[in-house]
Amino acid sequence: MSLQKSVFLSLFFAGFLFSISFYSCTFDNEEELLENFICDTTNVKYADLTYIFSDICSNCHSSTFTYRDGILMDSYNNVKASINSGRVLPAIEHQEGVPHMPYNLPKLSDCDLDKIRAWINSGMQENK
Ligand code: HEC
Repeated sequence: MSLQKSVFLSLFFAGFLFSISFYSCTFDNEEELLENFICDTTNVKYADLTYIFSDICSNCHSSTFTYRDGILMDSYNNVKASINSGRVLPAIEHQEGVPHMPYNLPKLSDCDLDKIRAWINSGMQENK
């Protein structure tokens, strides 16, 4: 391969890699912005949060698991009782001095936390 040709090829390849990484960064940011922009905290009801409580928390905090630290997140009544124990918010807000939830998993998004707080503040309605 001529020198000219290989220089051209490496530049082309570098440009290709750069555009991929640039594209994925932009995409992440847009996704984040979009999520914050459309975070809807009005009239949140239990069913709006089961993608967190049932799909994430109940993997560890349900009656089928032996280690759940007294916290059950697998039904409306159990979620309510757990939140009323006062231990859920500090854990999911990653406050100091308490175990951070979900355990060993990324923190819930700001929008998820806002929705949970809105739901608690409006009296933890099951349906609305
Ligand atoms: C992968 C398993 C797992 C998942 C998922 C998980 N937890 Fe936990 N949870 C644990 C373990 C283990 C402990 C005990 C931690 C400790 O004592 O260090 C715990 C403890 C807790 C506690 C007690 C904290 C305290 O003050 O002692 C709360 C509240 C809690 N979890 C809520 C949640 C909520 C809400 C979710 C979903 C957002 C969640 N957990 C997801 C495993 C999990």
